Amino acid sequence: MAKEKVVLAYSGGLDTSVIVRWLQEEYDYEIIALTANVGQGDDELKGLEAKAINTGAAQIFIEDIREELVKDYIFPMIRSGAVYEGKYLLGTAIARPVIGKKLVEVAEKVGATAIAHGATGKGNDQVRFEFAVKALNPYLKIIAPWREWNLKSRTDCMNYACEHDIPIPVTAEKPYSIDRNIWHISFEGGVLEDPAREPDQDMFRLTCDPQDAPEEPETLSISWDKGTPCAVNGKKLGPVELIEELNLIAGRHGIGRVDLVENRLLGMKSRGIYETPGGTLLAFAHRELEQYTLDRETYHYKEVVALKYAELIYYGLWFTPLREALDSFISSTQETVTGTVNMKLYKGNIVVTGRESDYTLYHPDIVTFEADELFNQKDAEGFINLYGLPLTVKGMMDWKQKLHLKEVE
Ligand code: ARG
Repeated sequence: MAKEKVVLAYSGGLDTSVIVRWLQEEYDYEIIALTANVGQGDDELKGLEAKAINTGAAQIFIEDIREELVKDYIFPMIRSGAVYEGKYLLGTAIARPVIGKKLVEVAEKVGATAIAHGATGKGNDQVRFEFAVKALNPYLKIIAPWREWNLKSRTDCMNYACEHDIPIPVTAEKPYSIDRNIWHISFEGGVLEDPAREPDQDMFRLTCDPQDAPEEPETLSISWDKGTPCAVNGKKLGPVELIEELNLIAGRHGIGRVDLVENRLLGMKSRGIYETPGGTLLAFAHRELEQYTLDRETYHYKEVVALKYAELIYYGLWFTPLREALDSFISSTQETVTGTVNMKLYKGNIVVTGRESDYTLYHPDIVTFEADELFNQKDAEGFINLYGLPLTVKGMMDWKQKLHLKEVE
């Protein structure tokens, strides 16, 4: 009888190499490895095929999903304005649903009955992968070795690999848990577990130390079409190129570093360091353009929606009716978010220098301190009287109480 198949989210690192063998021994599965190219860089992608087969996988799929990740996940996230706990631009969180979706697609293609992943039992990523799988194919079995086996650490994994003759990937030992894609890189664990300790400068990969950035500012413009970025310095760029280009520009000015103690979905706090250079520019410019083009109430309400949207992404609730409904709202708000934002970049800072849009609601004739014809200052008096009526009524009552207290004294 043919063996059952499992599709494993495979990175080629130590953990997933051990998982390949463990799934064979423990479950007698045929292992189909899947590596999604989300922009983790050539270092992580090279030699994967041989590595997977040598470790015991029957087959490996390497799929370049960068364009899909950017167009269908990152761009909607930018339009939403989502930022988790005021700082985190959700780089790891946003990539998980699309990887989950690919796991399901490959499982269906090869006729697998299960999927497996190498996320630990303490983190958010297990939740995000598994919510995606449950939403898209609830009949697939899910295997999370880190929640099942007795291996507790990297050293345990090394020992297991030695005992089982598993070729250990020849990557340098990483002092942190790192997750990289086109949008960001994250570092957790190791020495970073002490929130009182500043990270070493040589940890950073995408950004320079702001104090080493050029002494001269650089000007930059980002153009938008209905809330989606489409050009950098007037040059039209595809989704992947656009982010790559902005990563380089922001990175050389030390823009996009974040150090955050965040609340994980599973209840604990954890400390993470993030580099999201291009994303920081995009979030900044998008907000500037919305402030220039959206009416007050929509802009304010959108800020509320952004908080919820960030939670949905962080919690892995991407494939949900609420996220889709919020997207409808957000798309409708973005109809006029078209134009260009000009900025100056200087030693870790972004300074807005100009905004242009055919749809702006900013009206110099109305706001001017000079004489104008559109706004009648006399109208303000009636507005203040009516809008302030509740304050007036409350003030009258307080006044009466004060008089009464004086009388009984
Ligand atoms: N704390 C971040 C998040 O939950 C980053 C997680 C990084 N993941 C990793 N496997 N190192 O989104």
